[in-house]
Amino acid sequence: MTKSTLIRNIGTLVTNDPTLGEGPLGVIEGAALVLDGDRVAWAGPGADAPATDEAHDAEGRAVLPGFVDSHSHLVFAGDRTREFAARMSGRPYTAGGIRSTVAATRAASDAELGANLARYLHEALRQGTTTQETKSGYGLTPEQEARALRIAGEHTDEVTYLGAHIVAPEFADDPAGYVAQVTGPMLDACAPHARWVDVFCEQGAFDGDQARAILTAGRAKGLTPRIHANQLSYGPGVQLGVELGAASADHCTHLTDADVDALAQGDTVATLLPGCEFSTRAVYPDARRLLDAGATVALSTDCNPGSSFTSSMPFCIAVAVREMGMTPDEAVWGATAGGARALRREDVGRLSPGAYADLLLLDAPSHVHLAYRPGVPLTAAVWRRGVREV
Ligand code: NIG
Ligand code: FE
Repeated sequence: MTKSTLIRNIGTLVTNDPTLGEGPLGVIEGAALVLDGDRVAWAGPGADAPATDEAHDAEGRAVLPGFVDSHSHLVFAGDRTREFAARMSGRPYTAGGIRSTVAATRAASDAELGANLARYLHEALRQGTTTQETKSGYGLTPEQEARALRIAGEHTDEVTYLGAHIVAPEFADDPAGYVAQVTGPMLDACAPHARWVDVFCEQGAFDGDQARAILTAGRAKGLTPRIHANQLSYGPGVQLGVELGAASADHCTHLTDADVDALAQGDTVATLLPGCEFSTRAVYPDARRLLDAGATVALSTDCNPGSSFTSSMPFCIAVAVREMGMTPDEAVWGATAGGARALRREDVGRLSPGAYADLLLLDAPSHVHLAYRPGVPLTAAVWRRGVREV
């Protein structure tokens, strides 16, 4: 028999289930929530709550689904403090910095990489992230990429093969040879350890034809595509992602009207990564334009040592509201239900019966405080799979 827990006296409950409450966020004021084992059993007005084995008093604070961070690069060693400082004194961000993390990651032991990953996952959990996707991409050989994915898989189910992050230094003069590696022996070594295949489609990384070959090969091995698209410049990434049925096109910073139309009409989620523009001092993606066109917009951290070294979804929400034209409700939806869509998950990103009991109790009366009180640690408690973790 599983244990049931009542969380009562919730000021504002975000369910993300419009059939349970107000608006797209399915908000219930004065709510209660029942957890049974690792799942949500019931959500509704406090007065109607059923009897349970135990109870927790939320004392009028807000509860929302744990954040679903659908894009990060957490299997790495070293950091790039100096590169960041140089950028803040005027140097531009380029894909080239990735090479220094590749060298540090290759030199690190399995134990070191695992300990780093665990540390960043815990850092994210303390800020309310209960589902975390993460990628390889700092190994760039079949052995190193497979090792990164194996280590990632010890900590999360959402593992992405990104052998195509940049062309490996050994293939600097032979990019076609590297694409053959990524779609051949490296894919064979990596596919058993991953759910997704990703490619950095950008000038200085992989062009549209190369990206198509990489995603198509991954798909043939049972991996579902996602794509780093239109981050630093206009390019073919977004439309290629939509054409290939990618779950998500990530970054989406430089978009033509045709790119926006493709996202609005296709099934590919537009995942925006505000930490990246913040940390590279770049122009932010226009979330308002995407939302007004009818695209599905998710928010994610892109946590990595180069372009966005933050694990904080609350930070991303605050920046997206202030700088990208999102309302607080849209940003909170994007960081929870939107992330779940980007990972094609039905069991996270919502707090309605049947979903995993992954939730964040805020030290605030409303989810709007995530944007209203930027930089303030608002986590009062986190439950993951029905277990109180924070
Ligand atoms: O998503 N765009 C490519 N990959 C990362 C950056 C990785 C790095 O700079 O180390 C990103 O921003
Ligand atoms: Fe990324």
